[in-house]
Amino acid sequence: MINQEQQLKQIVENVNKKQKTKIITVSSGKGGVGKTNFAVNLAIGYAKLGKKVIVMDADLGLANVNVILGVIPKYNLYHVIKNKKPLKEIVLDTPYGIKIIAGASGFSQLANLTDDQREIFINSLSELEYADIIIIDTGAGVSNNVLSFILGADETIIITTPETTAITDAYGIIKSIYALDKDIPIKLVINKCESISEGKRVADRIINISFQFLSIKVENLGFIMSDEIVEKAVKVQKPFYILNPKSKASIGIDHVLSQLEHINVVEGKGINNFLKKYLKYS
Ligand SMILES: Nc1ncnc2c1ncn2[C@@H]1O[C@H](COP(=O)(O)OP(=O)(O)OP(=O)(O)O)[C@@H](O)[C@H]1O
Ligand SMILES: [Mg+2]
Repeated sequence: MINQEQQLKQIVENVNKKQKTKIITVSSGKGGVGKTNFAVNLAIGYAKLGKKVIVMDADLGLANVNVILGVIPKYNLYHVIKNKKPLKEIVLDTPYGIKIIAGASGFSQLANLTDDQREIFINSLSELEYADIIIIDTGAGVSNNVLSFILGADETIIITTPETTAITDAYGIIKSIYALDKDIPIKLVINKCESISEGKRVADRIINISFQFLSIKVENLGFIMSDEIVEKAVKVQKPFYILNPKSKASIGIDHVLSQLEHINVVEGKGINNFLKKYLKYS
């Protein structure tokens, strides 16, 4: 039996132990390689482990995080910056235990904010400190917008497929990140693999080139098989991890999750740290 004082001490210790919010970006060199599906299903996997997760759609083009989840947002960050909505009203619940922030037009404005708007944005994001993890789906390519999100994050996951152009572009984005910050941990996921050996070949190639030419250690998080459930999931607007947690693609997500949480775990440094770095590069 522990007495009340010990119990209180334990609670305080646990509260203090709560790590700061971890910000993970999901990016790619080439478009259409599976970022959005990966980001959303990884988030659901984390939620199943009891984590509070928010997926932020920072894709300037098609805002499709909400589409694959089948939710229709009325507002996005643009409305927050314009002082039309408080952030808590634009964070959307989903039926799958994760929350999302819709992107679209809001993000294209972030680079040109007035001081007042910048302050609103910063203060608003600080409100998300309750989340354990924020996963940012950045969209493809190496625009400043994508890079500033990556450079603010605690860790970044680069997705590629075994396609030659996707591999080349994955190396391209790794090189661009490295040119701006040599210390950010870069991790790799190979999506749409036909076999483990194919995935391994692709991962080894990127890891070896990055080490040879940039002297950086890119870490492989695993492989996600090409699986028809992904296309089906997109069609019915329900994440594949929910449709079938035992599907090949879902098993790939589980594997990545266990790598992220058990091997070279990167601790979150919180939203203020993210913002400081984000603003420096934006
Ligand atoms: N593991 C997989 N197996 C089979 N098909 C997949 C897989 N992952 C993704 N796809 C297919 O690729 C399409 C694109 O996926 P997704 O929208 O997640 O890519 P993206 O990288 O976010 O694209 P964009 O750059 O346009 O934002 C999906 O609609 C799906 O049909
Ligand atoms: Mg996408």
